[in-house]
Amino acid sequence: MQQIIDDLNWRYATKKFDPVKKLSEQQMETLKESIRLSASSYGLQAYKVLIITDPEIREALMEASHGQRPVVDASHLFVFCAYTKVSEADVAKYIQLISLTRGTDPNSLIGFHNGIVNSIKNKSTEDIVAWTSKQTYIALGQLMHTCASLRVDALPMEGFVPSAYNEILGLDELNLTATLACPVGFRHEADEAQFRKKVRKSNEDLFEIR
Ligand SMILES: Cc1cc2nc3c(=O)[nH]c(=O)nc-3n(C[C@H](O)[C@H](O)[C@H](O)COP(=O)(O)O)c2cc1C
Repeated sequence: MQQIIDDLNWRYATKKFDPVKKLSEQQMETLKESIRLSASSYGLQAYKVLIITDPEIREALMEASHGQRPVVDASHLFVFCAYTKVSEADVAKYIQLISLTRGTDPNSLIGFHNGIVNSIKNKSTEDIVAWTSKQTYIALGQLMHTCASLRVDALPMEGFVPSAYNEILGLDELNLTATLACPVGFRHEADEAQFRKKVRKSNEDLFEIR
């Protein structure tokens, strides 16, 4: 149990990455798998995660991120994108995946299918985006914890202009919108932020037993 707390104390929002140090393919596979295994509402995974390695695209994204250098210096850049539309066809595809994966009779999933469709059919685009965006934060949390376990550094980021990201990455036509970015890599030895004490509320302020 102490290991979990050690991992979480080790991690910090990395402000300066060592541009020379790169993640191994194996580390990347583990990070991707941790995102893939993330929990999501109904299990729909109504998001896509882009992994940006192209230096020119990352330069453009840095400009759309108030000049935050981790976007270009880190080994890899994850961009979490939420779907702006979830259609009945998307739900049907998901139901088919459950049926194939578990060998379940599709007829037994009709109630589940209809329940999801009923819950989304009257939602405005704004409500859909609010809902799908929340799911990306869960995946980000899981990515960050996995990074810490692997002793890989990360910076969770919402400090960017989503419309600029959407344009640079051509997301509008894919019915996606950028919600979060997360550069991952290895801390620079000169990153002052790694030496700062964690600032957190006390248990008394944060928790209440009722
Ligand atoms: C959703 C989210 C968005 C954040 N966006 C940024 C960001 O754009 N730039 C940045 O430098 N830090 C960003 N942070 C980092 C927080 O400032 C940092 O996590 C917080 O101060 C706690 O410090 P620690 O993570 O080092 O423990 C973000 C954190 C979260 C969870």
